Amino acid sequence: MAILVTGGTGYIGSHTVVDLLDNGYDVIIVDNFSNSKPEVLNRIYTITNRRPKFYRADVSDYEAMAEIFEKEYIEAVIHFAGLKSVAESVEKPELYFDNNVGSSKVLLKLMEIHRVSNLVFSSSATVYGVPQHVPLKEDDQVGGCTNPYGQTKLDIEYLLKDFAKAHPEANIAILRYFNPIGAHQSGLIGEDPNGIPNNLMPYITQVAIGKRPHLNVYGSDYKTIDGTGVRDYIHVVDLARGHLCALKKLEEKPGLVIYNLGTGKGTSVLQLVHAFEQANNIKIPYVICERRPGDIDENYAEVSKAYEQLGFKTKYDIVDACRDSWRWQSNNPNGYDQY
Ligand code: NAD
Ligand code: UD1
Repeated sequence: MAILVTGGTGYIGSHTVVDLLDNGYDVIIVDNFSNSKPEVLNRIYTITNRRPKFYRADVSDYEAMAEIFEKEYIEAVIHFAGLKSVAESVEKPELYFDNNVGSSKVLLKLMEIHRVSNLVFSSSATVYGVPQHVPLKEDDQVGGCTNPYGQTKLDIEYLLKDFAKAHPEANIAILRYFNPIGAHQSGLIGEDPNGIPNNLMPYITQVAIGKRPHLNVYGSDYKTIDGTGVRDYIHVVDLARGHLCALKKLEEKPGLVIYNLGTGKGTSVLQLVHAFEQANNIKIPYVICERRPGDIDENYAEVSKAYEQLGFKTKYDIVDACRDSWRWQSNNPNGYDQY
């Protein structure tokens, strides 16, 4: 019996695969390397001394996935595979729909045929749209997504809810991630964005390594502690462990369940910059700019449901994450590309 991990060579997937292997699970990864590199597999082996099975395939390709489901004995699926760039999704909404919703449909169909009833799905805090209040609770209103990427996450959540109604034997954990940052303590795996990073932490580490002259801080007139945007930054190693907690929960056959995975604490852009400077003794020059369209003042998670029902509690704080992100970036200035 093995766990099928789609998108398992990506940022969150690779950290989760390490935790699964370290905890004795057998793992089968499916990834098409659209946003990751084969070198990740070597790094996973170096960390865990175990090699997961790997298939290079597109999860939205029904025939390719059907072959894998025929060959393998799959106990549960963790579905990370998806495109995640907000800006690209605005340019190419059909690509995002086909890739993200299409791959989820293929998986559900094959899970039904092969009687695989357990699924963990990577959703996002983006499904809450513009929050009415913080902290955000799982039963708060969703919708009002400001971009096609966010809309695909919400569409998939609805699809999963309908699927669970039609298939009472299905057990599905929808995990709504807040903002993952940090890297594995080994410095061997981490976030490796293509081109100019969209997200805050990889931008900061690229300033620190000298690839970018300064950080652009998008707006200083938000209704927050210092005017800059507030988010809930969760260490990716904690986030990975959340998936193992969710798999354990599915063994209780709960039907469909939804959990926020965050720390419950908000941190502003400038607070994160200062934490990075303090943790690593590196100055991060920044320039205050215009707001980024679609950004919100603040969001952070209500975390009591995940604690009470999954026993999930974060171990690491933003200073740990800043130290680990920097270890990854400084050991791998060009990410997984060696030169
Ligand atoms: P990532 O891009 O690093 O990983 C996604 C992986 O999926 C990549 O390895 C990519 O090659 C693969 N992939 C994409 N489409 C595929 C397809 N059709 N078939 C096979 N493989 C495919 O992203 P990540 O940060 O690790 O995110 C993982 C999941 O979590 C995504 O679904 C993302 O939307 C979701 N999520 C991420 C964040 C975040 O801030 N990183 C926040 C909320 C939700
Ligand atoms: C963004 C996406 C969200 C997605 C998430 C994870 C948008 C509007 N939202 O969330 O849909 O789920 O990434 O991929 O893109 N910031 C700067 N300078 C930078 C980068 C960011 O000041 O160079 C600020 C932002 O304005 C924000 C905070 O840092 O206040 C965090 O930004 P980011 O890391 O992009 O995450 P989100 O905006 O929360």
